[in-house]
Amino acid sequence: MSGSNVAGGAQKVVGMILAAVIGFPLLIFLVAKLFTSGPGVDLGQANMTNEAISARLQAVGAVKLVEGGPPGSRSGKAVYESVCMSCHATGMAGSPKFGDAGAWAARIAKGFDTLTKHAIEGFNAMPARGGATDLTDDEVKRAVAYMGNAGGAKFEEPKVAAAAGGAIDPAVKGKEIYDSVCMACHATGISNAPKFGDKAAWAPRLKDGADAAVAIGIKGLNAMPPKGGYQGSDDEFKAAALYMINAAK
Ligand code: HEC
Ligand code: HEC
Repeated sequence: MSGSNVAGGAQKVVGMILAAVIGFPLLIFLVAKLFTSGPGVDLGQANMTNEAISARLQAVGAVKLVEGGPPGSRSGKAVYESVCMSCHATGMAGSPKFGDAGAWAARIAKGFDTLTKHAIEGFNAMPARGGATDLTDDEVKRAVAYMGNAGGAKFEEPKVAAAAGGAIDPAVKGKEIYDSVCMACHATGISNAPKFGDKAAWAPRLKDGADAAVAIGIKGLNAMPPKGGYQGSDDEFKAAALYMINAAK
């Protein structure tokens, strides 16, 4: 009886030693792995900028904040750097790596339209809009063009209205600016923005005339940032405002 107890005790001790010898390093290894090789989270590089770290963390989380200007106005490079880079810089999860002509050739062969469709709607492990739901279609297209061109394509990046410049045709320019900047809030009426085409919402704002409403828009009002965040001239902003105002008459 006591013999088997001793044997059982000895087995326990051996078991504990084995657990310590094998289990503890295994635990350390697993914990280390968790922190160094989670999808896209590489905290091992002490010299990473905060932006780079947040971009990588955002690859894992659902919500992404896109830097580089108000919605609609961001360049392909800005979108790439704040959203797409988190996967495409390293080729994570089988994504075609930025600048790798070999990885991009077969993708480019699908054509710009198919690639942008896939980038907008998602494609296997590629999340829709790279996970950044506030990107406009044009912004995704710019990023696809930027990435494709770095991989050897000759895609044309859709222009950013603010950077287009040149002579202004108010009607054309107004719609263009509305589509790329104002629509982000005014299409749905988010935060009390008067909704596009909604006469009742616009009427009280137009009681002092269109020019007064434009002037208020230039200065900004509550959740409406100055010029709606548009970076171009006052005249261009006015063209966009009149485009909305005319649609609500
Ligand atoms: C969470 C990781 C991730 C992010 C972020 C991401 N991608 Fe991707 N992307 C992938 C993966 C993985 C693939 C490869 C999918 C496949 O071929 O199965 C891919 C493929 C693509 C393709 C090729 C599609 C095709 O038809 O071959 C394009 C274009 C693309 N991504 C554009 C973008 C753009 C633009 C962004 C930023 C707005 C972005 N991606 C952000 C993971 C990502
Ligand atoms: C970030 C969201 C946002 C964007 C982008 C935006 N707006 Fe607005 N806008 C608002 C909100 C919210 C209001 C209502 C503010 C209030 O009354 O509190 C508003 C109000 C206005 C008004 C009415 C001002 C008045 O007299 O009451 C005009 C004109 C206007 N916006 C024009 C524009 C134009 C033109 C653009 C694009 C260049 C634009 N907005 C982009 C949110 C936005």
